[in-house]
Order: sequence, then structure tokens, then C-alpha cells
Amino acid sequence: MTLRYQTGFGSYFETEAVAGALPIGQNSPQKTPFGLYAELLSGAAFTAPRHDNRRTWLYRLRPSAGHGPYAPYAQDRLKSGPFDAVAPTPNRLRWDPLEIPAEPTDFVDGLVTLAGNGDVATQAGLGVHLYLANASMKGRVFYNSDGELLLVPQQGALTLITEMGVLEAGPGHIAVIPRGVRFRVEVEGPVRGYVCENYGAPFRLPELGPIGSNGLANPRDFEAPFAAFEDVDEPTLVIQKFQGGLWAVQCDHSPLDVVAWHGNLAPYRYDLSRFNTINTVSFDHPDPSIFTVLTAPSEIPGTANCDFVIFPPRWMVAEHTFRPPWFHRNVMSEFMGLVHGAYDAKAGGFSPGGASLHNCMNAHGPDVASYEKAVAAPLAPHRIENTLAFMFESRWVIRPTRFAAQTPLAQSDYDDCWSGFQKARLP
Ligand SMILES: [Fe+2]
Repeated sequence: MTLRYQTGFGSYFETEAVAGALPIGQNSPQKTPFGLYAELLSGAAFTAPRHDNRRTWLYRLRPSAGHGPYAPYAQDRLKSGPFDAVAPTPNRLRWDPLEIPAEPTDFVDGLVTLAGNGDVATQAGLGVHLYLANASMKGRVFYNSDGELLLVPQQGALTLITEMGVLEAGPGHIAVIPRGVRFRVEVEGPVRGYVCENYGAPFRLPELGPIGSNGLANPRDFEAPFAAFEDVDEPTLVIQKFQGGLWAVQCDHSPLDVVAWHGNLAPYRYDLSRFNTINTVSFDHPDPSIFTVLTAPSEIPGTANCDFVIFPPRWMVAEHTFRPPWFHRNVMSEFMGLVHGAYDAKAGGFSPGGASLHNCMNAHGPDVASYEKAVAAPLAPHRIENTLAFMFESRWVIRPTRFAAQTPLAQSDYDDCWSGFQKARLP
């Protein structure tokens, strides 16, 4: 199936899978076309400023409200803020990749939480999960009342069948599912990827300041689905994440039954190869914020609940400059993952599907081997190829879960990559 998309970031879309399904000139007429049920999905407070306000009108076969009580659904590897199961650690942490299970596991059951911060109750902070699955969700859909989901596929492609239409996303893409939007994940083999569950304000494009009106992630490259719906009268388990727990209710039909919609709250995908990477053409390199794809702001200007930052293939041309990421200590906390290839500040140990965590004010930077190679390298223009690392950077300290703290995949020797630096030689 070749999917079509409508483009733009935060654009006002309108789409109908059946001609004539969208009401004209009003949102909720007394008699809707075909008797569809009009439902408002509010992703922002009604009174949020216009440029932050996100909402979509859905026109569906049956109202979402038609269901019985939810009951708890057991999935004990998925965790939520507050992340207080183990004491936060100042230590730098790095993990080897988690294996995709051999037994049939779908997206929901294959979620495992590595870390997070903040609190779902206050809608601040984030959860960092991996999904590890090999089976499509069958007869079940999922939605997250606790936050928006930013998916970073690392292995295998996902087909995201959402209330608002169908998205495909494989390694090299990201996909974002807004808070509350129901979806089902279909796969054709083993899949692994990272998830940022953003409890805070939705991701948006960063300001560009002196860069101007073009560059970084351009709005036209974001792709939202056209309306597509299921008319399926078969039992469907609706699973939601609410205040840290999973809950489920059996429905007698598929709730992915939105025939038409209009609004500016929609799932979307983005091809990271379209990121217009900007960097120095003289000396030094800018702060890594130059690589920000999306930002979820907090109430402090410029201090994000979460920035999503990528380190894509790019030219390195800086003169008389130490070109890899520098040593630094940062008030912000940094969780990193690797989609493919190698990251230029590490000679080894940071593998695709793995992860690292450098928390508030704790020193990190290139390892000894990367440092020595960089200070000896001739500074000709050089292209970094075959790499795609990313970072979830947050104003809040990112706390590992008990699983992440105790798994043997945590590298007990990570500190060693910074041992053995020669002392500087004074005259
Ligand atoms: Fe850093």
C-alpha cells in the first residue's frame, strides 16, 4: 500500500474518507452528514493562546463515549513518573541494546521503561521507553492519556493505524501520536525503537532566531494522514495509559471509525533525512541545540521539558577546532540513543538500540580514543556518514527505573572510557 500524506507542521487540515462526510460551515450541526457523531478532541486547554491551541473535530460511526468501565491491565515493565523506585544516581550510565523477545509480543506488551522524570499528575516531565515487538496488535487499540508519544524506530517499520488515518514509520523516521489519539501498531517482523512519552506541552518546532525563516526541520516536511476508518463490528480491547497505569475495556467495535476530521491536532511523521543540518563554516561548533528537531517547552522560556535533537550525517569543516562534541557539564539532563552507525564522540560501546544517560552537572564528552584521534586528525573537510544518534534533553533530572538500574545490560565499566587522559603539560 502506498500511503499519501498531507503536509505541514501544526497546519489546519481537513480530510474525509467518504465524500460529503465533513459538515460545511459549522462543527456540530443538528444533523450531521450520514448521521456521523461529531466529537471534539482537545489537545490544549480551550483557552490556550491561539498559536498553542490544538484541537480536532472528529466525525465517527459511533461516539467514543460508548463503553463500560475500564479495568486494570497488567504490564509491569511500563513505568511512569514519579520515578522514585530507585534513588537517582549522578553516575553516567550506558546500556547495551535490549533483545526483541522471541515469543509473540505486540507494541503494548513490548514496552519497557528505562527512565523518566516529572510526574504524569502534573503534566510535566517525560518517560523514556523502548518498544520491543514482533507481532501486530490484533483486536486491540491503545491510547495514552498521560502524554504524547514520540516514536523513534530503530529496527523494522511500523504501520500506525490511528483514528485519523494511517502512518508508516521505519528507521530514519519519527512519528508522533498526540495524547489521547487511539492507534494500533502493525509490524511485519521484529521491531525495536525508542519512545519519548512527553507529559508536558506538545512538541513544536523550535524558534529559528537569526537562522531566519528556513532551516532545521522545515514545516512542509511533516506528514499527517488523510482520513481512513475501520467499519469493524468485532470485539476490540481498548487499552489506555492513565496516571501511570494501564486500563482496558472491551468494545464491540473498532474505535478507529473516524470517517472525516478537521483540525490542527493530528498524528504526524517526519523523515529525519530532510533535516536541514546547520553548523559552523568557520571555527568551533555551536551548541548541540543547533540540531533540535522538535521542542516541548516548559514554563521557563528556552528551557525545555524535552528537546528532541539528532546527530545526522553532516560535513565537518571547522578550522583549528576540536570537532567532536566537547567535554561539558550541563544543567539539562541528556538521554541518548542510536538508530544506526556510530556516534562521533565514542569509539565503541554505544551501539544501535543501546542508550546512555548523562544527568544534570555530571561531566561527559568524548572518550579517550575519540579525543586522541580528534586532536591528531588533519582538519580537511570530512563528512560523517552512516550515523543517526539522537537525544532527549530535559530540564529535569532523568531517573532510571529499577529495571534499568539492575539489568546486566547496564555497562558497569562505562566510566572507564574517560580514564587514562594525559595530564596537560605546563611550560
Ligand atoms: Fe552532553
